[in-house]
Amino acid sequence: MLTTIKEVSGHVGKEIKLGGWLYNKRSSGKIQFLQLRDGTGFIQGILVKNQVSPEVWERANNLTQESSLYVWGVVREDSRAPSGYELDVTNLEIIQIAEEYPIAKKEHGVDFLMDHRHLWIRSPRQRAILAIRAEIIRAIQGYLDTNGFTLVDPPILTPSSCEGTTNLFHTKYFDEDAFLTQSGQLYMEAAAMALGKVYSFGPTFRAEKSKTRRHLIEFWMIEPEMAFVDHEGNLKIQEELVAHVVQQVLANCEQELKTLGRDLSALEKVKAPFPRITYDEAVELLHREGFTDFTWGDDFGAPHETKIAESFDRPVFITHYPTEVKAFYMKPDPNRPEVVLCADLIAPEGYGEIIGGSQRIDDPELLKQRYEEHHLPLEAYQWYLDLRKYGTVPHSGFGLGLERTVAWICGLDHVRETIPFPRMLNRLYP
Ligand code: 4AD
Ligand code: MG
Repeated sequence: MLTTIKEVSGHVGKEIKLGGWLYNKRSSGKIQFLQLRDGTGFIQGILVKNQVSPEVWERANNLTQESSLYVWGVVREDSRAPSGYELDVTNLEIIQIAEEYPIAKKEHGVDFLMDHRHLWIRSPRQRAILAIRAEIIRAIQGYLDTNGFTLVDPPILTPSSCEGTTNLFHTKYFDEDAFLTQSGQLYMEAAAMALGKVYSFGPTFRAEKSKTRRHLIEFWMIEPEMAFVDHEGNLKIQEELVAHVVQQVLANCEQELKTLGRDLSALEKVKAPFPRITYDEAVELLHREGFTDFTWGDDFGAPHETKIAESFDRPVFITHYPTEVKAFYMKPDPNRPEVVLCADLIAPEGYGEIIGGSQRIDDPELLKQRYEEHHLPLEAYQWYLDLRKYGTVPHSGFGLGLERTVAWICGLDHVRETIPFPRMLNRLYP
C-alpha cells in the first residue's frame, strides 16, 4: 500500500512506501538528499551510505531528474523542512531512469515553458496553482449545492450567440451552422424556470483577438441563474459566494499559497459585504484620478478597472452601466431606463472583472424590442422569448470567470498559468 506525501504527518516514526518522481538531488559524498514529489506534495528523502545496501546507494546515484521510483523510508518530523517532515530512506526501486529533462533548474522563457506545459505543470508553483484551482471549484460547488442550487449543464454547440456575434467560434453542424458557446446563460434562464435556482459549470469560448493578461480563448465559467431574485438579491449571493471561496482556500490551501508567496493579509480582508459604486460614480472617480477623456457611455478597460479597484481593499461592484454598453437581455432600471440593473465585480489588486451579471428582462414586449434593436432573428431566439410568455418572473444571474478568480486568489500576473492547458491567441499546443 502506498502512502502519499500529503499523509505523512499521520505516519511519524513509521516506515512508509511512496510512489514518486525525483525532482532534484544533492549529494555530500556519504549522504544523498533526494527531493521527491508524488503529486500530493514534496518531501526530502535522506539516504545515508552506511545505512543502506550498496545496491540501493547505487540506484540513488543513478537517478536523474524526473526519474520515477518507489521509495521506502521512515517519516521524521523536522521543523526546518518546508513541509515539516523528512524521510529517512531505507530502500528504493527504480521504475524508469528519465531521459535528460528539458526543464532544468535554470530560468526559462515563458514560450519555452508554454511549449513544455505538459511537463511544466509538475513544478511546485504550477502544481500549487492547479491544486488551488481545484479547491476554488470545490468551494464554489459546495456553496451553491448547500444553498439550494441545482447543477444544470447547458449545451456547448449552439445555434446562436449570447454575448454578441463578434467573437463566436464557427463550426459546421452537418448542414447547419453552429457556434461554440460563449455563455450558457440563455439556457440557464430556461433551467431556472424549471428548477428555481440553478448553476452551470463548464467551458466557454471567445474567438477574441485580444492578447492580454486576462483573456483566454477557452475559459471556464460558473453561471448561477435564479428565479424570483432581483438585482439586489443577485449581488448578495455573489458577495457571499466569493467571500466563502476565498476563506475556504485560506483554510485548506495554506501550503500552496505559501509556495506561491501570496500575500495572505489581502485575502483575509475579503469578507461580505463588498463595496458598491454606480457606473456614474466610477466615471467621476476616473475623472478625479486623471482619466479626463473618459466619457459617459464608454466601457471600462483594464486600466480603468485597476484604477477603480485601487480605492478598495476588497472586491467592488460597479452597478448600473449604460444600457448601450451591455448585453441585450439586461433589465433597464425602471427609474432610469438609460442604465441597466447589472453589476460587474472587480477584484482588488488589479485583477479586473471576475463576475458579470444582471437582472434579466422579464417583459416579452421589451425583449422583442431589444431583438429588433440588436438585429437578433426572432426564429433563432423564439424559445428565449417563450420564457417570458409562459409565466414570466423576475430573475437574475451572473457568470464568474474561473481563471480570473484563480489568478487573483493565487496572485498571478497572467491567466495563462491558471488553467492546465491554456488556449490563447497564438497557442493551441500542447
Ligand atoms: O462578462 P461576461 O462576458 O458575462 C457573460 O458571459 C454572462 N452571460 C454571464 C451571466 O450573466 N451568466 O463573462 C463573465 C466572466 C467575466 O466577468 C470574466 O471573469 C470571465 O467571465 N471572462 C473571461 N475570462 C477569461 N478569458 C476571457 N476571454 C473572458 N471573458 C470573460
Ligand atoms: Mg463582462
